Formats: sequence, structure tokens, C-alpha cells
Amino acid sequence: MTDKESVVLVVSGSIAAYKAAELARALMELGLDVRVAMTRAAERFITPLTFEALTGGRVLRAGFPEPGEPPMEHITFTRGARLVLAAPATADLIARMAGGLADDNVTSMLLATDLPVIVAPAMNVMMYRHPATQSNIALLASRGVMFVGPEAGELACGDEGEGRLARIPQIITAVREKLSLGDDLAGRKLLITAGGTREPIDAARYIGNRSSGKMGVALAHAAARRGARVTLVAGVMDVEPPANVETVRVESAAAMLDEVERRFPGVDALVMAAAVADYRAEQVSGHKVKKTKRWDLPLVENTDILGRMAERRQSQILAGFAAETHDVEAAGREKLLRKNLDMIVINDVSRADIGFGADENEVTILTRQGAPERVTKAPKERVADAILDRLVVLINNRKRRGEAAG
Ligand code: PMT
Repeated sequence: MTDKESVVLVVSGSIAAYKAAELARALMELGLDVRVAMTRAAERFITPLTFEALTGGRVLRAGFPEPGEPPMEHITFTRGARLVLAAPATADLIARMAGGLADDNVTSMLLATDLPVIVAPAMNVMMYRHPATQSNIALLASRGVMFVGPEAGELACGDEGEGRLARIPQIITAVREKLSLGDDLAGRKLLITAGGTREPIDAARYIGNRSSGKMGVALAHAAARRGARVTLVAGVMDVEPPANVETVRVESAAAMLDEVERRFPGVDALVMAAAVADYRAEQVSGHKVKKTKRWDLPLVENTDILGRMAERRQSQILAGFAAETHDVEAAGREKLLRKNLDMIVINDVSRADIGFGADENEVTILTRQGAPERVTKAPKERVADAILDRLVVLINNRKRRGEAAG
């Protein structure tokens, strides 16, 4: 059992069933617990095991329970959940829902719940346009079922027309709307960096650091959940980027600078959680340098990405992190001013339980105005939300200033 909010995802037998795996992941990234139910036909396209591995929960299958299995699961499966989402929903599933059939475990479950229902149809265009399907959709809509899509385009069968499963961000928007999830970053574009950079020395070696990417990924995840369009410029990371976020992979500080610089003009804020190498090798050998007793390796300074963006800013908010080991607050304040930032998040990287690689962080948030905010030790996801709470205020105030001036 978890204290998270739950949604029930009903997957039916369309060629688009494979997209339901990505959808389940995107729902989980909203912080939701996902319970999956599958029709018999769905199992011809994707296995229950896929969803069990993704969600960590048992899949409700269409066949009636065997002796020894929970007999009332069609009643209990939706208990405590907030929403049922049928995606992809075939013409057959829609017809069975409209007709109130309870001819297997899944349709029985759908009949035994009064939760809000969202349906994302996916089928051939002729099946979609058929009067039977259209009247089933109208009937369900009149009962309060919300429909998302389908989209028009080329279909798996080769036909053109309506019938493609709505895109995942569109389905997620409908879920957010139904569940009234916070969206204080809706319409905002955020550029976030995460992970460490690698600066090559020769064909085998590089200069790196201990960043796992967890802090930056937590920020990207939380910002997307709060409605932002996020681009994540990811250096070397130990964790996967969120599925509903555009991710650009880089290795060196120079490549990170290029990608950030290119995207910077269109964003509302840049948040640099990446640990960017301050130095790179002056010369990079194409071969592996032979081992000697001593190696003097001249290093040259990398461009400061935040510093460069501060010179180019129009109305973007700039937020940096400060990885410090002593006198952390004074050092962070000095960086805030020197790099001409709007916000700096200071963490003490001498501690093993927070900062580099850890699942938790403890930070002090400094802005140009206002008192320092101390965020006590918490999972990086919670720290990310506290950082975004401050960022939202900075973005909103900037807009109001601009509007007043304009
Ligand atoms: O990835 P995790 O394992 O979750 O760890 C998280 C973290 C400790 C890496 C993260 O919380 C953090 O502190 N990131 C910033 C690390 C760092 O490079 O700090 P700094 O004090 O050296 O740099 C200050 C700021 O300038 C940072 O926002 C950095 O991204 C930026 N910078 C640094 C060098 C450079 N050439 N260009 C930059 O923009």
C-alpha cells in the first residue's frame, strides 16, 4: 500500500497497446500509483508482465478468477483510486462500456465503479466513423465520460484518417485536468541541466565528477508534473531522465554550453543543477598516453555557462547551484552576485548523506531579495518542489514587472 493517489489504466487490444507502457510511466512520473487492467485482446499485443515490472503491482486480467485467486477483484481493484483511464480503447471496449456489459473481469470492474472515466480511443478510421461507434461515444459522453482524441493521420493498417491514439502529453493533460493537479508552471518553458560533464584527456581517460543526475532529474520531473515544458540537458547520469521531458544528452562542458546556448532564447528560466567541470585538458591526445612516473597535465578554464547566459539574458530567470564544502552560505551568496543570478541553491557536498549521488538533499535557497530559505533534509523530489516554489514566484514577478513597464 502507498499513500499516493492511484489511477486505473485499462489497456485494450489495439496495435497502440505498446504505447500504454510509456503512458503508465508518464502517469507514474506525475506521482501517481498506476494499477493496470488488461482485456484479453490486449494480451495479444503486450504482456501483463511488462506492466507488472513497470508499476510493481499485479495486473487485473480479463479472465474470471481461478480458485485461490481473489474472487471480488473486479469490485476491489478500483477502491481508493481517483480515476479510470482507458487507453488505448478499442471500438469493442467502447461498445461494451456503452452497453453496460460485464462479460469479463475488466468490463465487470468498469461497471462496478463510479469513478470519473477518461477514454482515449484507438482504431481504424472506418470503425471510428461507424454510426455504432459514434453513438456509443455520444452515449458515454452523455454519462460524463471524457474523451481524448483520437488523432487523425496515417493508421497502422495503412488507412488515413481519425483513429490514432492521442499523444501521451495530451492524455496526461486530460488526467491532470480531471485530477486538478497543481499546474503553476503551465505554459512555462524551463531549461534544466543535470549530471556531470566528462572532459577528455586522451583516447581512454577523462576528468569527471560524482554527480549522479538525481537532483536535476528530480527538478525536471517536478517541473513537468507542475505543467512546464521542460528540456533537460543531461550530462553523464546514473539515473534515467523522465519520459515526459525532452532530453538532450551531452558529455563535455563545451557540448553542454552549445545545447544550453541554443535553447536559452525561448525559455522562461534556466536551472543549472549540473556539475560542470571548471577545467579541461589544454590538449587532448587521440591516442592513449603511455604511463610515466609523472604526468604534468596543463588544464585550461571552461566557459562558465551561467555567466555566459547572464550576459545574453533578456527576461529569463537564472538559477544556479553552489556545491560548497565550508562556509557554505557566504560562498553561495558570493556566487549569486558574481554570476549575476536570480537564485542560487546551496548544498554542502562534503556530506555523504546529501548532495552528490545521495537520494536526499538539504539546501539553502538564496535570492537577491528576501531571507535565505533553509530546506531541511528531504528526498530530492521534495527539495525540487521547494526550489520550484521559489522559481514560480520569480518568473511571475518578472512577467508582472515586464507588463507594467510595457
Ligand atoms: O547529481 P546529484 O548526484 O544529484 O548531485 C547534485 C549536485 C550536488 C551535483 C547538485 O546539487 C549541485 O550542487 N550542482 C552544481 C554543482 C557545481 O558545479 O557547483 P559549482 O559551485 O561548481 O558551480 C556553480 C554553478 O555554476 C552551478 O549551477 C553550475 O552548474 C554552474 N557552472 C559551473 C561551471 C561552469 N563552467 N559553468 C556553469 O554554469
